[in-house]
Amino acid sequence: MKLLVTGGAGFIGTNFIRHIRQEHPDWQMTNLDKLTYAGNLENLKEIQDQPGYRFVKGDIADRKIVDALLSGEYFAANSLRPNTRDLRPSIVVNFAAESHVDRSILDASPFIETNVKGTQVLLEGAKKHGVQRFIQVSTDEVYGSIDRGRFTEESTLSPSSPYSASKAAADLLCLAYFKTHHLPVVITRCTNNLGPYQFPEKLIPLAITNALEDKPIPIYGDGLNVRDWIFVDDHCKALDVVIQKGKPGEVYNVGGGNEKTNLDIIRKLLELLNKPQSLMQFVTDRPAHDRRYALDCARISTELGWKPAYSFEKALSATVDWYLKNEPWWRSIKSGEYARYYEEMYLKR
Ligand SMILES: NC(=O)c1ccc[n+]([C@@H]2O[C@H](COP(=O)([O-])OP(=O)(O)OC[C@H]3O[C@@H](n4cnc5c(N)ncnc54)[C@H](O)[C@@H]3O)[C@@H](O)[C@H]2O)c1
Repeated sequence: MKLLVTGGAGFIGTNFIRHIRQEHPDWQMTNLDKLTYAGNLENLKEIQDQPGYRFVKGDIADRKIVDALLSGEYFAANSLRPNTRDLRPSIVVNFAAESHVDRSILDASPFIETNVKGTQVLLEGAKKHGVQRFIQVSTDEVYGSIDRGRFTEESTLSPSSPYSASKAAADLLCLAYFKTHHLPVVITRCTNNLGPYQFPEKLIPLAITNALEDKPIPIYGDGLNVRDWIFVDDHCKALDVVIQKGKPGEVYNVGGGNEKTNLDIIRKLLELLNKPQSLMQFVTDRPAHDRRYALDCARISTELGWKPAYSFEKALSATVDWYLKNEPWWRSIKSGEYARYYEEMYLKR
């Protein structure tokens, strides 16, 4: 297998690259990442010089670089191997995205550029160069909020934020390339991930790291919004199965089966860290904040035989352990540009 992984220096991409190195050491991987604020090459330090892996800094919306990579010409031009055509990727796994809802509310433009235009540029390159499988890593947020029951893959897309709208647009483009051009696209729609290497602007790493610094933990509205949580390793295993067995043109919901309110999670985290519950600080709710997400994941379990292995408790304690052991990683992020963003987002509310 020869994979072009995009956005591999971010949270899930990092975990995915590590998973593939471990499970399929013979698979070739090229990681194309623009290294936005969310991309961090530190995450892949142990892997960076391993044979079979290479990093390329670039934008998925840049037609030239995408074309050069998918044709194999990039490798020839950079003399990465004597016979370079053999590095031409046969599979694209597209993680690259602007991924934070709050940032999409401040400015949606980068979300359209990367999530919509970038995906279209990748699809076009994949069509032109005969890619055998295109995995679009999407999200449960494309369905919008549901009070009762669960969304199936056939449910209507009804995104609420500019982030989820841009992901829904990308999903529809993927399906259109399947129908119109028979490009073998497979879409996964996963619930909220937790685990190592998540940028500390997202709920769980923000709460863990603020608690460790004895800083208040901002909670939107009444804190009763419900999300289904999945350990990132389980998501990576699902993607591995989809690469090998997923049906072209199909969508697969991927969930952890762990519905929790934000309040449940923060209470549990504070308990685990032995910190006072008084660190919780309620702030003005996010506009159009979806109340509940829930997925029916019967298709991936019955058709592909995938099931999550981690309970929420096990996933949360593995995540907390990782942040405790990797303090320099998150401390270096929680300074500089990020500190200014944090103040703007939460402290001025
Ligand atoms: N985090 C979750 O809970 C979750 C759940 C479901 C689906 N997803 C999806 O999974 C994917 C990865 O999410 P994540 O949480 O790892 O995101 P992330 O923000 O941690 O990482 C995104 C990565 O993409 C890179 N990137 C951004 N724009 C790029 C561009 N134009 N060209 C190349 N690289 C670019 C960034 O540098 C970064 O390394 C996203 O597509 C997201 O929509 C995430």
